[in-house]
Amino acid sequence: MSKKYSILILAAGEGTRMRSSSIPKVMHTLCGVPLIQRVIKASMPIPQEKIGIVVGYGNEKIKEELKKQKNIELIPQKKQMGSGNAVQSAKNWLQHVSKSSSHILVVCGDTPLISSETLLSFCNFHLKQENNASILSFKTSQPFGYGRIVRDQNLRVQKIVEEKDATLEEKNIDEVNSAIYCFEIKKLLEILPHLKNNNAKKEYYLTDVIEHFYNKRLKVDAFQSGARNGLAIKETMGINTRVELSMAEEFLQEKIRNYWMEQGVTMLNPSSIYIEEKVTIGKDTLLLPQTMLLGATKIGERCKIGPSSFIENSNIGENTVVRASFIYGSTIGNKVEIGPYTHLRTGSVVQDEARIGNFTEIKNSNIGKETKVSHLAYIGDSILGEKINVGAGAITCNFDGKNKHKTTIGSQSFVGSNVNLIAPVKVGARSVLAAGSTITEDVPSDSLAIERTSLVIKKGWVKKRK
Ligand code: UD1
Ligand code: MG
Repeated sequence: MSKKYSILILAAGEGTRMRSSSIPKVMHTLCGVPLIQRVIKASMPIPQEKIGIVVGYGNEKIKEELKKQKNIELIPQKKQMGSGNAVQSAKNWLQHVSKSSSHILVVCGDTPLISSETLLSFCNFHLKQENNASILSFKTSQPFGYGRIVRDQNLRVQKIVEEKDATLEEKNIDEVNSAIYCFEIKKLLEILPHLKNNNAKKEYYLTDVIEHFYNKRLKVDAFQSGARNGLAIKETMGINTRVELSMAEEFLQEKIRNYWMEQGVTMLNPSSIYIEEKVTIGKDTLLLPQTMLLGATKIGERCKIGPSSFIENSNIGENTVVRASFIYGSTIGNKVEIGPYTHLRTGSVVQDEARIGNFTEIKNSNIGKETKVSHLAYIGDSILGEKINVGAGAITCNFDGKNKHKTTIGSQSFVGSNVNLIAPVKVGARSVLAAGSTITEDVPSDSLAIERTSLVIKKGWVKKRK
């Protein structure tokens, strides 16, 4: 396909049915990605001159989201008066792009499951048939809410009727509008000024342009998606409510989980496991129920993750076990054991064969090879060498109320239970910090540091008190 197309994405609507107080509809996310980004990504493979997005409600949020995508032009729609009015708002832009492209692909920002393959086939169909307007339609047993494709006695597409304006007979039509269209730009520009808002919603519907094309005896046809694969009905699904958002999410999740199972990952109770699209998982890894893998997380081979683990933007090596833990922005080596109930915060590095145990929090710290922080500890802004044992309740006191300070502990040292390390502080290699000590000064290598008042035992004291 030569570069005959420009692309217009409609994203100005508030999305009233989402019942959000602050998020424009196209900024709701599916598997962590805003709806608008999914539509843009699907449109990119269409050979194109320009991409324009009509924005209105919540446009600041959309601008912020798209600020790095330089090749996209944002077109304001001042008042949200319907999808037809959204395209009317793009009149100047359309006139401008008509100099370099003769056709426009119009996609709605709330159709996030659409694939590039379907869009490409649709755009090819439009050009091959030499249509003036084409609609991407689909058949469904649940047409409620969609515009129905009305055909004349010769089965030519005559118009689209919206749910609220449809007669009983029209409501029974099972071919519906996906709100994805191709138009010859010049013809569309001629028709746009003639749209009226004499309908149930008092809006200027883009769907009404079809009847104008038909009445002018221009060539209009619908390309029915779904003939080739059973998934297409969901691909063309529009998201208008939170329920539909969750249906789309479940559809994507099932696809992602099935993909990883086919790649050699085992999942117990897969429907309880949530995996975002950028995540990668090695073979023979076992994912246990209630596990969430988010962002750019990478999990190596033969790991055991879960039950109930949350891992975001983290790298996990091979043969590592993570039980019921939260891990953010961290790097974990091979044969590491994490959890249960560990919290690894951003910037943590846990080297091979280390163990981080229950109710332990690690932040922005390096935990050396074979080092064990097994129970109830807090390690923040620290560098721990290899083969260190950190006892229960040991804490790095990294914050003085104003600034954060570093703790360094040399390899093979022993940190007794309930030790407080007042940072900044350095402990050399092979040293022992006695249980209960508060370490306020650097401790050289091969030393014992003990900081306790002497134990006083008063025999018979209890009896005397009585
Ligand atoms: C629309 C179609 C319907 C189709 C369905 C498919 C119309 C009139 N109806 O209905 O035939 O079956 O999609 O999902 O188009 N928008 C603006 N500015 C506005 C209003 C809407 O930019 O003033 C944008 C929205 O952001 C959205 C798109 O237009 O991306 C469609 O609007 P929406 O309200 O979702 O229309 P539907 O009722 O879903
Ligand atoms: Mg919609």
